[in-house]
Amino acid sequence: MPIFGTRPEAIKMAPIVAALQQSEQFECVVTVTGQHREMLDQVNELFGIVPDHDLNILQQRQSLSAIMTRTIDGLDSLFAEKKPDAVIVQGDTTTSTAGAIAAFYHGIPVVHVEAGLRSGNLLSPFPEEANRKITSQIASLHLAPTSTSKANLLAEGISPEDIVITGNSVIDALLTTVDKKIPFTDPQLEEIASSGRKVLLVTTHRRENQGNAMRGVGRALARIADAEPDLVIVLPAHKNPVVREAVLPALEGKPNVVVTEPLAYGEFTRMLALAHVVLTDSGGVQEEAPSLGKPVLVMRDNTERPEAVHAGTVTLIGTDEERIVKEVDRLLHDQDHFDSMANAINPYGDGKAAARTVAAIAHMLGLGPTVEEFQQ
Ligand code: UD1
Ligand code: UDP
Repeated sequence: MPIFGTRPEAIKMAPIVAALQQSEQFECVVTVTGQHREMLDQVNELFGIVPDHDLNILQQRQSLSAIMTRTIDGLDSLFAEKKPDAVIVQGDTTTSTAGAIAAFYHGIPVVHVEAGLRSGNLLSPFPEEANRKITSQIASLHLAPTSTSKANLLAEGISPEDIVITGNSVIDALLTTVDKKIPFTDPQLEEIASSGRKVLLVTTHRRENQGNAMRGVGRALARIADAEPDLVIVLPAHKNPVVREAVLPALEGKPNVVVTEPLAYGEFTRMLALAHVVLTDSGGVQEEAPSLGKPVLVMRDNTERPEAVHAGTVTLIGTDEERIVKEVDRLLHDQDHFDSMANAINPYGDGKAAARTVAAIAHMLGLGPTVEEFQQ
C-alpha cells in the first residue's frame, strides 16, 4: 500500500505505483491522504493513478498537528480492514511520517522511499528534518537515493542489510515526462516558449521561509524584473494562501512577471527545460534541474541534497533580498560563471529507481533476490 498526500510525493511515487501494478508479485492498493488536493489530483491525473482510498484530510491553512492526527485516524481503520503486507511512504512530509507511525502501530512493515536525507538542522527544513528522522526510526526498509544518504543512515545506526541505494524515483518521473513537450494550458506560457526570451523560473513554499523572508523574495523578484526588461520571470504560485500573500503583492503590474497556478507536472518540466536559470526553495526541483543542466539558486541556508552543490550546478544563497538580486545578476551577465553551473549531471538517479524499489520490497518480503544498487 503506497501512501502519499502531497504533490512531490505523488510525482515520486507515480513510477513506483506503475512498477507495482506491472509486477505479478503484488497487489497495489493506492491510498492518498489528500494533504494536498488540486496539486495532488493534478499529478494523479497525469500519471493515470486512481486512488483506491482517499482520506481527503485537507483543510485551508491546516496545522501540522491536524495533518498528523487526521492521517493517523483515517489510516487506523483502513489498516484494520485492509491489513496490507507492507506500506510505502515517501520522503519527509507529515503525510509520510503519519503513515509510517500508523503502520508501525499496526505492526505493518514500513518501506521508506527517499530515506537518509539530512540537513543536520532539526529546525530547517521545518518540520521535514524531524519528519524524516522519525520515519527512519520505525521503517523496516530504507531506500536511499544516493550513497551520501545511505551513509547518513549508517551513521545513525541503521543496519546495512535494511538499506538499498535505489536512486531517486523523481528522475524516473522526469525522464518519462520531460520529452513529451506537453502544451501549456496558459497561452502566455506558450508565447514565452516560442519567443525565445530568457526565463527565470521561480518556485517557493517552504514553511520556514514564510513571512518576512518570502516578502523579501517578492521584493527581490520585483527589482530583478525592473532591471532586466528582456527577462521573463515565471512563477507558478503554490496553492498555499500564506505564500501568495507574502510573495505576490510586490509583483503586481510587472509586465515581465508571469504568475500562474501550479503547473501540471508535464508543463512544469517543459518550463524547466526552457528556463535559463532556476530560483527555488523546493527539494524536488533541486534534483530535477541539474539533470537538465540548469543552474539552480536555492533560497535556503542548508540542504539535505548536497550532491548537486558539490557538482557545482546548485548554489545555496539563502533568502536575503540583496543576495538574491546579486546572484541572479551574476548568472545573467557573467557567462563564465553561467557556463560553470550549467552542467547536466545525474547524481540523483538513472531512471531505474522504481524497478529497484519493487525488487527491494520483494526481497524484504522473502519473494526475491538481493538488489543491485544504483551507482553514481
Ligand atoms: C507540504 C509539505 C512539504 C512539501 C510541500 C510540497 C508538510 C508539513 N509539508 O507543504 O514538506 O515540501 O507540501 O508542496 O508535510 N493548499 C491547497 N491546495 C493544495 C495544496 C495546498 O489549498 O492542493 C493550501 C491549503 O490552504 C493548505 C496550505 O496550502 O492548508 C498548505 O499546505 P500543506 O500541505 O499544509 O503545506 P505545504 O507548504 O504545501
Ligand atoms: N512542480 C510541478 N508544478 C509546479 C511546481 C513544481 O509539477 O508548478 C513539481 C516539480 O517538478 C517537482 C515537485 O513539483 O517535482 C516539487 O514540489 P514542491 O516544490 O511543491 O515540493 P518539495 O519538492 O519541496 O517537497
